[in-house]
Amino acid sequence: MNPADIASWISDAQKAFSAAADLDQLKVARLAHTGDKAPISLASRSLGTLSPEEKASAGKLIGDAKAAIAQALASATEKLEASRDAKVLLEEVVDITLPVLRTHRGGLHPISIIKNEISDFFIEQGYAVEEGPELESGWLNFDALNIPADHPARTMQDTFFIEPVESGVVLRTHTSPVQIRTMLTQKPPIYVICPGRTFRADELDATHSPVFHQVEGLVVDKGITMAHLKGTLDNFARHMFGPDVTTRLRPSFFPFTEPSAEVDIFFNNRWIEWGGCGMVNPKVLAPCGIDTDIYSGFAFGMGLERTLMVRHGITDMHDIVEGDLRFTRQFGVGL
Ligand code: PHE
Repeated sequence: MNPADIASWISDAQKAFSAAADLDQLKVARLAHTGDKAPISLASRSLGTLSPEEKASAGKLIGDAKAAIAQALASATEKLEASRDAKVLLEEVVDITLPVLRTHRGGLHPISIIKNEISDFFIEQGYAVEEGPELESGWLNFDALNIPADHPARTMQDTFFIEPVESGVVLRTHTSPVQIRTMLTQKPPIYVICPGRTFRADELDATHSPVFHQVEGLVVDKGITMAHLKGTLDNFARHMFGPDVTTRLRPSFFPFTEPSAEVDIFFNNRWIEWGGCGMVNPKVLAPCGIDTDIYSGFAFGMGLERTLMVRHGITDMHDIVEGDLRFTRQFGVGL
Protein backbone atom coordinates (compact mmCIF):
# COMPACT_ATOMS: atom_id res chain seq x y z
CA MET A 1 0.00 0.00 0.00
CA ASN A 2 2.39 2.70 -1.14
CA PRO A 3 1.31 6.21 -2.15
CA ALA A 4 2.24 5.58 -5.78
CA ASP A 5 -0.16 2.63 -5.98
CA ILE A 6 -2.90 4.68 -4.41
CA ALA A 7 -2.28 7.54 -6.85
CA SER A 8 -2.52 5.09 -9.75
CA TRP A 9 -5.86 3.75 -8.45
CA ILE A 10 -7.16 7.31 -8.42
CA SER A 11 -5.94 8.07 -11.91
CA ASP A 12 -7.19 4.70 -13.23
CA ALA A 13 -10.62 5.45 -11.81
CA GLN A 14 -10.63 8.99 -13.17
CA LYS A 15 -9.65 7.74 -16.65
CA ALA A 16 -12.25 4.97 -16.61
CA PHE A 17 -15.00 7.35 -15.47
CA SER A 18 -14.21 9.96 -18.07
CA ALA A 19 -13.88 7.29 -20.78
CA ALA A 20 -17.45 6.04 -20.10
CA ALA A 21 -19.65 7.03 -23.05
CA ASP A 22 -22.96 6.64 -21.22
CA LEU A 23 -24.45 5.84 -17.82
CA ASP A 24 -24.35 2.09 -18.46
CA GLN A 25 -20.63 2.14 -19.14
CA LEU A 26 -20.15 4.37 -16.12
CA LYS A 27 -21.89 1.78 -13.98
CA VAL A 28 -19.41 -0.88 -15.12
CA ALA A 29 -16.49 1.45 -14.36
CA ARG A 30 -17.98 2.34 -10.99
CA LEU A 31 -18.20 -1.32 -9.95
CA ALA A 32 -14.62 -1.92 -11.13
CA HIS A 33 -13.16 1.07 -9.27
CA THR A 34 -15.31 1.43 -6.18
CA GLY A 35 -16.92 -2.04 -5.86
CA ASP A 36 -16.02 -4.68 -3.26
CA LYS A 37 -13.14 -6.01 -5.31
CA ALA A 38 -11.70 -2.64 -6.37
CA PRO A 39 -8.07 -2.12 -5.15
CA ILE A 40 -9.14 0.84 -3.01
CA SER A 41 -11.81 -1.27 -1.29
CA LEU A 42 -9.44 -4.15 -0.65
CA ALA A 43 -6.87 -1.70 0.75
CA SER A 44 -9.51 -0.09 2.90
CA ARG A 45 -10.48 -3.47 4.32
CA SER A 46 -6.88 -4.43 5.06
CA LEU A 47 -6.40 -1.33 7.25
CA GLY A 48 -7.51 -3.42 10.23
CA THR A 49 -4.39 -5.55 10.01
CA LEU A 50 -2.02 -2.61 10.38
CA SER A 51 -0.40 -1.26 13.51
CA PRO A 52 -2.03 1.86 15.01
CA GLU A 53 0.65 4.23 13.61
CA GLU A 54 0.55 2.78 10.12
CA LYS A 55 -3.22 2.78 10.24
CA ALA A 56 -3.35 6.52 10.91
CA SER A 57 -1.26 7.52 7.90
CA ALA A 58 -2.61 4.86 5.50
CA GLY A 59 -6.14 5.60 6.62
CA LYS A 60 -5.72 9.23 5.66
CA LEU A 61 -4.25 8.33 2.27
CA ILE A 62 -7.06 5.91 1.54
CA GLY A 63 -9.74 8.29 2.79
CA ASP A 64 -8.42 11.05 0.52
CA ALA A 65 -8.23 8.61 -2.38
CA LYS A 66 -11.81 7.49 -1.85
CA ALA A 67 -12.93 11.10 -1.79
CA ALA A 68 -11.06 11.81 -5.02
CA ILE A 69 -12.58 8.75 -6.71
CA ALA A 70 -16.06 9.68 -5.46
CA GLN A 71 -15.56 13.19 -6.76
CA ALA A 72 -14.50 11.88 -10.17
CA LEU A 73 -17.56 9.59 -10.22
CA ALA A 74 -19.90 12.43 -9.28
CA SER A 75 -18.67 14.71 -12.01
CA ALA A 76 -18.78 11.94 -14.64
CA THR A 77 -22.33 11.08 -13.53
CA GLU A 78 -23.44 14.68 -13.76
CA LYS A 79 -21.97 15.04 -17.24
CA LEU A 80 -23.50 11.81 -18.56
CA GLU A 81 -26.92 12.50 -17.02
CA ALA A 82 -26.96 15.91 -18.64
CA SER A 83 -26.14 14.46 -22.04
CA ARG A 84 -28.78 11.71 -21.58
CA ASP A 85 -31.42 14.35 -20.71
CA ALA A 86 -30.48 16.41 -23.72
CA LYS A 87 -30.80 13.34 -25.95
CA VAL A 88 -34.20 12.39 -24.50
CA LEU A 89 -35.47 15.90 -25.03
CA LEU A 90 -34.42 15.72 -28.64
CA GLU A 91 -35.73 12.21 -29.28
CA GLU A 92 -39.06 12.69 -27.53
CA VAL A 93 -39.77 16.11 -28.85
CA VAL A 94 -43.50 16.71 -29.45
CA ASP A 95 -44.52 18.79 -32.42
CA ILE A 96 -47.41 20.72 -30.98
CA THR A 97 -48.19 22.17 -34.39
CA LEU A 98 -49.21 18.76 -35.81
CA PRO A 99 -52.96 18.35 -36.40
CA VAL A 100 -54.71 16.34 -33.66
CA LEU A 101 -56.28 12.96 -34.40
CA ARG A 102 -59.58 13.46 -32.59
CA THR A 103 -61.87 10.47 -32.14
CA HIS A 104 -65.36 10.93 -30.77
CA ARG A 105 -66.67 8.59 -28.13
CA GLY A 106 -69.99 8.16 -29.88
CA GLY A 107 -73.29 8.60 -28.14
CA LEU A 108 -76.94 7.68 -28.07
CA HIS A 109 -79.56 9.05 -30.41
CA PRO A 110 -81.94 11.46 -28.62
CA ILE A 111 -84.79 8.96 -29.12
CA SER A 112 -82.79 6.33 -27.22
CA ILE A 113 -81.95 8.89 -24.54
CA ILE A 114 -85.62 9.79 -24.00
CA LYS A 115 -86.63 6.11 -24.11
CA ASN A 116 -84.11 5.32 -21.36
CA GLU A 117 -85.22 8.36 -19.38
CA ILE A 118 -88.87 7.23 -19.49
CA SER A 119 -87.97 3.63 -18.69
CA ASP A 120 -85.91 4.72 -15.66
CA PHE A 121 -88.77 6.90 -14.43
CA PHE A 122 -91.26 4.01 -14.47
CA ILE A 123 -88.81 1.35 -13.29
CA GLU A 124 -88.26 3.46 -10.15
CA GLN A 125 -91.98 3.10 -9.45
CA GLY A 126 -91.94 -0.66 -9.78
CA TYR A 127 -92.99 -0.99 -13.41
CA ALA A 128 -91.41 -3.60 -15.66
CA VAL A 129 -90.34 -2.87 -19.24
CA GLU A 130 -91.85 -5.19 -21.85
CA GLU A 131 -90.99 -5.36 -25.50
CA GLY A 132 -92.79 -7.05 -28.36
CA PRO A 133 -91.92 -7.81 -31.98
CA GLU A 134 -92.11 -5.14 -34.68
CA LEU A 135 -93.60 -7.68 -37.09
CA GLU A 136 -96.86 -8.42 -35.32
CA SER A 137 -99.85 -10.58 -36.02
CA GLY A 138 -102.86 -8.61 -37.19
CA TRP A 139 -104.81 -10.40 -34.50
CA LEU A 140 -102.69 -8.89 -31.71
CA ASN A 141 -102.32 -5.52 -33.40
CA PHE A 142 -106.08 -5.17 -34.06
CA ASP A 143 -108.56 -7.94 -33.15
CA ALA A 144 -107.44 -8.60 -29.59
CA LEU A 145 -107.59 -4.84 -29.05
CA ASN A 146 -111.25 -4.84 -30.04
CA ILE A 147 -110.55 -3.50 -33.53
CA PRO A 148 -112.35 -6.01 -35.82
CA ALA A 149 -111.61 -6.18 -39.55
CA ASP A 150 -114.49 -3.95 -40.57
CA HIS A 151 -114.13 -1.53 -37.70
CA PRO A 152 -113.72 2.08 -38.83
CA ALA A 153 -110.89 2.47 -36.33
CA ARG A 154 -108.79 0.19 -38.50
CA THR A 155 -108.65 2.89 -41.11
CA MET A 156 -107.37 5.33 -38.49
CA GLN A 157 -104.07 3.56 -38.76
CA ASP A 158 -102.54 3.22 -42.18
CA THR A 159 -101.05 -0.19 -41.93
CA PHE A 160 -98.05 -1.76 -43.67
CA PHE A 161 -99.16 -5.32 -44.48
CA ILE A 162 -96.56 -8.03 -44.98
CA GLU A 163 -96.87 -10.16 -48.11
CA PRO A 164 -98.57 -12.52 -48.59
CA VAL A 165 -101.38 -10.48 -47.08
CA GLU A 166 -103.15 -13.72 -46.04
CA SER A 167 -100.29 -14.28 -43.57
CA GLY A 168 -102.03 -11.70 -41.42
CA VAL A 169 -98.68 -10.23 -40.40
CA VAL A 170 -98.33 -6.45 -40.17
CA LEU A 171 -95.71 -3.98 -39.09
CA ARG A 172 -97.22 -3.02 -35.75
CA THR A 173 -99.04 0.30 -35.97
CA HIS A 174 -98.76 0.96 -32.24
CA THR A 175 -97.25 -0.55 -29.09
CA SER A 176 -100.69 -1.61 -27.78
CA PRO A 177 -100.30 -5.27 -28.92
CA VAL A 178 -97.63 -5.58 -26.21
CA GLN A 179 -100.50 -5.00 -23.72
CA ILE A 180 -102.15 -8.18 -25.02
CA ARG A 181 -98.91 -10.16 -25.03
CA THR A 182 -98.33 -9.12 -21.41
CA MET A 183 -101.84 -9.94 -20.22
CA LEU A 184 -101.77 -13.33 -21.95
CA THR A 185 -98.59 -14.31 -20.14
CA GLN A 186 -98.78 -12.52 -16.78
CA LYS A 187 -101.36 -12.38 -14.02
CA PRO A 188 -102.33 -9.13 -12.35
CA PRO A 189 -101.07 -7.04 -10.67
CA ILE A 190 -99.51 -5.82 -13.92
CA TYR A 191 -97.46 -2.63 -14.08
CA VAL A 192 -95.60 -2.37 -17.37
CA ILE A 193 -94.39 0.12 -19.91
CA CYS A 194 -93.65 -0.92 -23.46
CA PRO A 195 -91.42 1.36 -25.48
CA GLY A 196 -90.74 0.49 -29.08
CA ARG A 197 -90.72 1.16 -32.80
CA THR A 198 -94.00 1.51 -34.64
CA PHE A 199 -94.93 1.91 -38.31
CA ARG A 200 -97.61 3.65 -40.33
CA ALA A 201 -97.86 4.32 -44.04
CA ASP A 202 -97.21 8.06 -43.76
CA GLU A 203 -94.93 10.15 -45.90
CA LEU A 204 -91.96 11.62 -44.07
CA ASP A 205 -92.72 15.29 -43.53
CA ALA A 206 -92.18 17.89 -40.82
CA THR A 207 -94.49 16.13 -38.37
CA HIS A 208 -94.81 12.53 -39.63
CA SER A 209 -92.50 9.60 -40.14
CA PRO A 210 -93.43 6.11 -41.40
CA VAL A 211 -91.17 4.73 -38.66
CA PHE A 212 -91.60 6.25 -35.23
CA HIS A 213 -91.61 5.28 -31.56
CA GLN A 214 -94.25 4.99 -28.90
CA VAL A 215 -94.28 4.20 -25.24
CA GLU A 216 -97.25 2.33 -23.87
CA GLY A 217 -98.23 2.11 -20.23
CA LEU A 218 -100.48 -0.62 -18.81
CA VAL A 219 -101.67 -1.15 -15.26
CA VAL A 220 -104.08 -3.92 -14.24
CA ASP A 221 -104.81 -4.31 -10.54
CA LYS A 222 -107.66 -4.33 -8.04
CA GLY A 223 -109.57 -1.06 -7.75
CA ILE A 224 -107.73 0.85 -10.50
CA THR A 225 -109.65 4.01 -11.46
CA MET A 226 -109.28 6.93 -13.80
CA ALA A 227 -107.87 8.91 -10.85
CA HIS A 228 -104.86 6.59 -10.86
CA LEU A 229 -104.48 7.17 -14.59
CA LYS A 230 -104.65 10.95 -14.15
CA GLY A 231 -102.17 10.91 -11.24
CA THR A 232 -99.74 8.72 -13.18
CA LEU A 233 -99.93 10.96 -16.26
CA ASP A 234 -99.49 14.09 -14.11
CA ASN A 235 -96.31 12.69 -12.58
CA PHE A 236 -95.06 11.48 -15.92
CA ALA A 237 -95.73 14.86 -17.56
CA ARG A 238 -93.95 16.73 -14.75
CA HIS A 239 -90.99 14.43 -15.08
CA MET A 240 -90.78 15.00 -18.83
CA PHE A 241 -91.71 18.67 -19.12
CA GLY A 242 -90.93 20.20 -15.73
CA PRO A 243 -92.77 20.79 -12.44
CA ASP A 244 -95.07 23.52 -13.76
CA VAL A 245 -96.73 21.52 -16.51
CA THR A 246 -100.46 20.74 -16.23
CA THR A 247 -102.34 17.97 -17.94
CA ARG A 248 -105.92 17.65 -19.06
CA LEU A 249 -107.92 14.69 -20.29
CA ARG A 250 -110.15 15.32 -23.29
CA PRO A 251 -112.86 12.76 -24.15
CA SER A 252 -111.89 10.65 -27.13
CA PHE A 253 -112.31 7.19 -28.57
CA PHE A 254 -110.12 4.09 -28.78
CA PRO A 255 -111.67 0.65 -29.22
CA PHE A 256 -109.40 -0.82 -26.55
CA THR A 257 -110.20 1.71 -23.81
CA GLU A 258 -113.53 2.77 -22.36
CA PRO A 259 -113.78 5.54 -21.43
CA SER A 260 -111.01 6.96 -23.62
CA ALA A 261 -109.28 10.31 -23.56
CA GLU A 262 -106.57 12.34 -25.21
CA VAL A 263 -104.03 13.64 -22.74
CA ASP A 264 -102.98 17.23 -23.38
CA ILE A 265 -100.25 19.19 -21.64
CA PHE A 266 -100.12 22.92 -21.03
CA PHE A 267 -96.57 23.72 -22.02
CA ASN A 268 -95.00 26.96 -23.24
CA ASN A 269 -98.36 28.73 -22.87
CA ARG A 270 -100.44 26.47 -25.05
CA TRP A 271 -102.31 23.17 -24.91
CA ILE A 272 -100.55 20.42 -26.81
CA GLU A 273 -101.89 16.94 -27.50
CA TRP A 274 -99.46 14.43 -26.00
CA GLY A 275 -101.03 10.98 -26.32
CA GLY A 276 -104.03 8.69 -25.89
CA CYS A 277 -105.25 6.94 -22.77
CA GLY A 278 -108.21 5.37 -21.02
CA MET A 279 -109.52 2.56 -18.85
CA VAL A 280 -108.76 -0.78 -20.48
CA ASN A 281 -111.97 -2.02 -22.13
CA PRO A 282 -113.36 -5.13 -20.34
CA LYS A 283 -113.78 -6.56 -23.85
CA VAL A 284 -109.97 -6.55 -24.03
CA LEU A 285 -109.34 -7.74 -20.46
CA ALA A 286 -111.75 -10.68 -20.43
CA PRO A 287 -110.39 -12.61 -23.46
CA CYS A 288 -106.94 -12.31 -21.85
CA GLY A 289 -108.28 -14.29 -18.90
CA ILE A 290 -108.58 -11.37 -16.52
CA ASP A 291 -111.59 -11.42 -14.19
CA THR A 292 -113.20 -8.03 -14.79
CA ASP A 293 -115.25 -8.29 -11.59
CA ILE A 294 -112.02 -8.15 -9.60
CA TYR A 295 -109.61 -6.26 -11.80
CA SER A 296 -109.62 -3.06 -13.79
CA GLY A 297 -106.86 -1.25 -15.57
CA PHE A 298 -105.68 1.83 -17.36
CA ALA A 299 -103.47 2.29 -20.41
CA PHE A 300 -101.81 5.17 -22.15
CA GLY A 301 -99.63 5.61 -25.21
CA MET A 302 -97.61 8.48 -26.58
CA GLY A 303 -95.10 9.15 -29.35
CA LEU A 304 -91.46 9.56 -28.39
CA GLU A 305 -90.69 11.78 -31.38
CA ARG A 306 -93.58 14.00 -30.45
CA THR A 307 -92.50 14.16 -26.80
CA LEU A 308 -88.98 15.08 -27.85
CA MET A 309 -90.16 17.66 -30.39
CA VAL A 310 -92.47 19.38 -27.90
CA ARG A 311 -89.94 19.38 -25.09
CA HIS A 312 -87.05 20.70 -27.18
CA GLY A 313 -88.95 22.90 -29.61
CA ILE A 314 -87.93 20.76 -32.59
CA THR A 315 -90.05 21.81 -35.53
CA ASP A 316 -88.93 19.35 -38.19
CA MET A 317 -89.18 15.55 -37.93
CA HIS A 318 -86.36 15.29 -40.51
CA ASP A 319 -83.90 16.37 -37.82
CA ILE A 320 -84.81 13.34 -35.73
CA VAL A 321 -84.66 10.74 -38.49
CA GLU A 322 -81.79 11.95 -40.66
CA GLY A 323 -79.00 11.31 -38.17
CA ASP A 324 -77.09 14.57 -38.73
CA LEU A 325 -74.55 14.71 -35.90
CA ARG A 326 -74.88 18.48 -35.64
CA PHE A 327 -78.41 17.84 -34.36
CA THR A 328 -77.69 14.75 -32.26
CA ARG A 329 -74.66 16.23 -30.46
CA GLN A 330 -76.81 18.90 -28.84
CA PHE A 331 -78.36 16.19 -26.70
CA GLY A 332 -75.04 15.12 -25.24
CA VAL A 333 -73.53 11.71 -25.08
CA GLY A 334 -76.24 10.09 -22.98
CA LEU A 335 -74.28 6.98 -22.19
N1 PHE B 1 -102.45 2.95 -29.29
C1 PHE B 1 -102.98 4.30 -29.36
C2 PHE B 1 -102.43 4.98 -30.59
O1 PHE B 1 -101.48 4.53 -31.15
C3 PHE B 1 -102.63 5.10 -28.14
C4 PHE B 1 -103.28 4.57 -26.89
C5 PHE B 1 -102.61 3.67 -26.09
C6 PHE B 1 -104.55 4.99 -26.55
C7 PHE B 1 -103.20 3.20 -24.95
C8 PHE B 1 -105.14 4.52 -25.39
C9 PHE B 1 -104.48 3.63 -24.60
O2 PHE B 1 -102.95 5.99 -31.02
